[in-house]
Amino acid sequence: MNQPLTELFSSLTALLHQHADYWRPVAFREVRLPWMNQHPRLVERLYALEPDQIDRLSTDADALADFLAVDLPFAPVLQSLTALPAFPRRKAAAVHPRFCAGIPGRKWQQVEAFVHSLPDATLPILEWCAGKSHLGFYLQACTGQPVTALEWEVALVAQANARARRDNVALHSVALDVLTPAADPFVQTAQQVVALHACGDLHERLLGLCVEQGAHQLHVAPCCYHKRAEEYYVPLSQRGRATGLTLHKSELHTAVMETVTAGASVRRQRMQLQMMRLGFDCLQRDVRGVDRFLPVPSLPASRARMEFAEFCQHCASLKNIELPASVNWQHYQRQGEQRFWQVSALDLVRLLFRRPLEIWLALDRALLLQEHGYAVQVGTFCPAHITPRNLLIQGRRD
Ligand SMILES: C[S@@+](CC[C@H](N)C(=O)[O-])C[C@H]1O[C@@H](n2cnc3c(N)ncnc32)[C@H](O)[C@@H]1O
Repeated sequence: MNQPLTELFSSLTALLHQHADYWRPVAFREVRLPWMNQHPRLVERLYALEPDQIDRLSTDADALADFLAVDLPFAPVLQSLTALPAFPRRKAAAVHPRFCAGIPGRKWQQVEAFVHSLPDATLPILEWCAGKSHLGFYLQACTGQPVTALEWEVALVAQANARARRDNVALHSVALDVLTPAADPFVQTAQQVVALHACGDLHERLLGLCVEQGAHQLHVAPCCYHKRAEEYYVPLSQRGRATGLTLHKSELHTAVMETVTAGASVRRQRMQLQMMRLGFDCLQRDVRGVDRFLPVPSLPASRARMEFAEFCQHCASLKNIELPASVNWQHYQRQGEQRFWQVSALDLVRLLFRRPLEIWLALDRALLLQEHGYAVQVGTFCPAHITPRNLLIQGRRD
């Protein structure tokens, strides 16, 4: 199904190395990005975009590549490397509508699509970071195989076990931290291991254990690569390490930059918050007399309802900055709004690399498995509008 994974990995590595100045720096933090001097016409075209055009380009990768191609001839080449095949959809057992009652619509679509992309299961199933085990219950219904689910939230475990008892289903959820050695014995050879949207450290640990224990089948849809303890990501595969490409957590974040799953009101709140953060950034540069970004801890969307002055006072107190008695709040608020649209436009260049980075990271995982004797396939298990985290890595070792 795949062109050799190594070939695609090499092509992506070469482009990521060559064009690192376009995806490593983040416009939110840096007023001048390294590529801006080289591409004044592109900067002008980006700044001329209307908000709805920025929105459209940030959700349509092909249109974005076409737009950028005028100034960045590598854009279509990069975009062409992101066309991964979809796993063929298999027919899975129909379940009673009651089965998915209470599961949010999009989650159920993800679960269905994931299960329909798997080969027939003839082995007991291990579900990693299972949440309420929606995936495990559906897999059990489709395959008849017993499921062991691992999850650390005790309430979710209790809920899954109560459902299993009530419906007489062969599913057992276990409360544990998968990052501790307590999880090790659960990964075994004669097993089909599944993980839907396990974040950075969580799926990395699973891959390590599968490789060690030789689990026969593994199906992982990774998520949030940046959620990991280590600050820097050193590739997992030997081939990955040989590339010399190391990524900071913030660069891993680029691979999962928001696309459009949030609703309008959440998006509006986030936008408001970003504007205020940028306004505060302009203010702190002036107050400290240091023209450098100052990271402020991420704040809940509810902060978006704060007055701008109150917001800045809150951030200043977090960073031990003494603000002057009188501040022209309106001026900085306006600056924040202006910066927001500039940053959103400039960020389109980084966004061009979002999917290539995500695929590169998935391939690194796939190559790790390959290096340990697995036959591996990488593709999509559902369209991006169901979840943008739609990459599936399937490994089989007999
Ligand atoms: C993004 S959710 C995915 C849940 C489920 N697989 C799904 O797709 O609905 C990740 C799950 O991992 C669990 N989790 C996070 N850290 C964990 C840990 N260290 N050990 C076990 N479970 C963990 C969370 O509680 C959460 O239920």
